[in-house]
Amino acid sequence: MSSDIFDKVKNLIQEIEASKPADAEELEAFRLRYLGTKNILKPLMAEIRNIPNEQKKDYGQLVNQAKQTAEAVFERLQTALEQAADQAAFDGLDLTAPPYPQELGSRHPVSIAMNRIVSIFERIGFSVAEEREIEDDWHNFTAMNTPEDHPARDMQDTYYVKDSVEYLLRTHTSSVQSRVMTSQKPPIRIIAPGRVYRNETISARSHCQFHQVEGLYIDEGVSFADMKQTLLLFAQAMYGPDVKIRLRPSYFPFTEPSAEMDVYWGLESEVDYRITKGTGWLEILGCGMVDPNVLENCGIDPEKYSGFAFGMGIERQAMLAYNLPDIRLFFENDVRFLKQFKGAF
Ligand code: DAH
Repeated sequence: MSSDIFDKVKNLIQEIEASKPADAEELEAFRLRYLGTKNILKPLMAEIRNIPNEQKKDYGQLVNQAKQTAEAVFERLQTALEQAADQAAFDGLDLTAPPYPQELGSRHPVSIAMNRIVSIFERIGFSVAEEREIEDDWHNFTAMNTPEDHPARDMQDTYYVKDSVEYLLRTHTSSVQSRVMTSQKPPIRIIAPGRVYRNETISARSHCQFHQVEGLYIDEGVSFADMKQTLLLFAQAMYGPDVKIRLRPSYFPFTEPSAEMDVYWGLESEVDYRITKGTGWLEILGCGMVDPNVLENCGIDPEKYSGFAFGMGIERQAMLAYNLPDIRLFFENDVRFLKQFKGAF
């Protein structure tokens, strides 16, 4: 009896070694038969109690050998099946097929215009300053010499953060001026691009969010002539060397004197008449000498230092450059619109 059962286990070992499952299903059947919770080796192991004592050790080792063989064979077969599957997938690949073309993205037209403006000023020594869009009342208005009763503070123009009189969405990038002046010492020469918000009715011409670029230059002895020369250089780089500019007196709370700069656009077409209101001149930016009150508010001695500042809207310039009829196009993110600026930078 005992040699019978020894033979039975030995036959089983041979059977295990000879197994060749052809697919994952057959491999699973193999696993259940030899290694599963109800595998056929278990009852054989239980048989050990009927084996004469002097043979128990040999018998135990033999059944263990069967189990180890099953484990080793299972692992080998599993690896072989995985490799065969990988190979099959690879054989199905057409390595000569042309790849899918990579779709190139494009920059947003506002970014294109903004980058252009910023890079012109970077070339003449301005560095970029970026600041928060949620601003406090002091940096956006008070420091910028905008009195309490100024219409720009009206709830209708300014988005205040809910239930707050202190925090708001900046209404202009001029807030970066006060941020920089209170944290840096002159000489200061910065250019500040960014998004601004105003509570305006959305139409083809105006939007509640848009972009500006602000400039600020403060040092000893900075003059109005310096400002004019800087802005002329900008206009030439932006609109061509033959551009004509003019400065018209204007008013801003944070500059004194203040001006608006126009570039000559021409009056060749009906559109030119419309966008220049029949004058041929197009307003591009606001500017002026930084008001001494602003310098003082920000802890800069107005007796020692002077400076100029300017600010311009980006969407308007992008609309002119790309001949776009409606400011809302910039914020809809319609890819059919955005795709048209491929290749521009
Ligand atoms: N902050 C002004 C606006 O939002 C633009 C502006 C005008 C900025 C004159 C300036 C400046 O720095 O000097 O319309």
